[in-house]
Amino acid sequence: MSVPLTAFAAGAVVALLVGVFGKVHDPTLAGTTAFGFRTVIDMKVVLSVVIGVLALLQLLGALWMYGKLGVTAPEWLGTAHRISGAIAVLLTVFVTYHCLWALGLESGTLANGEPVSTRTVVHGVLGCAVVGALVVKVVAVRSRRSPGWFLPVAGGVLFALLISAVMTSAVWYIGAKGWPRLG
Ligand code: HEM
Repeated sequence: MSVPLTAFAAGAVVALLVGVFGKVHDPTLAGTTAFGFRTVIDMKVVLSVVIGVLALLQLLGALWMYGKLGVTAPEWLGTAHRISGAIAVLLTVFVTYHCLWALGLESGTLANGEPVSTRTVVHGVLGCAVVGALVVKVVAVRSRRSPGWFLPVAGGVLFALLISAVMTSAVWYIGAKGWPRLG
């Protein structure tokens, strides 16, 4: 029981620190990349959709391995789940870095006097929580001494936060402005 408690405490501290950094750091596009897309935002929207799809696959794969789909899981599923999970984590860290570095944790009013939308505030807070949940999930995967509920709970929390962060950014963006164009 002490491993999950410590992991959740560490995750909360990390999420808080990320939020503090997002407030004190001066946002800048220096040190970012659009990865061949027209803008950094276009790049984040497309990668976030990929992250959302991978997160859904991770949930399905986990339910399958835990025998919740009523069909026996194939042998390759564990390896596939681990590889696609690692890709999802890398992409999430990449997108989060770009949000944090180029935009930060927005709240109150912007420099031009316009109020920051509730969606943007909620998205930023969710994004910080995603980083904390990633820490908890990595501990849950690595720890050999944790109770059986820890891994599915850590995975479920990460899934819920990640999907919410994608819904309040990329999904909103595509709904409001359409799909980004390449080049
Ligand atoms: C520390 C964590 C994060 C912070 C502080 C943060 C902050 C922000 C801010 C301030 C914006 C601009 C929103 C606007 O102009 O209305 C934004 C946009 C965006 N974020 Fe994040 N974010 C974080 C994590 C994430 C994560 C985990 C994802 C997805 C996996 C993500 C995906 C996006 C996308 C696609 C956009 C562009 C669409 C939009 O304008 O809303 N962010 N983020």
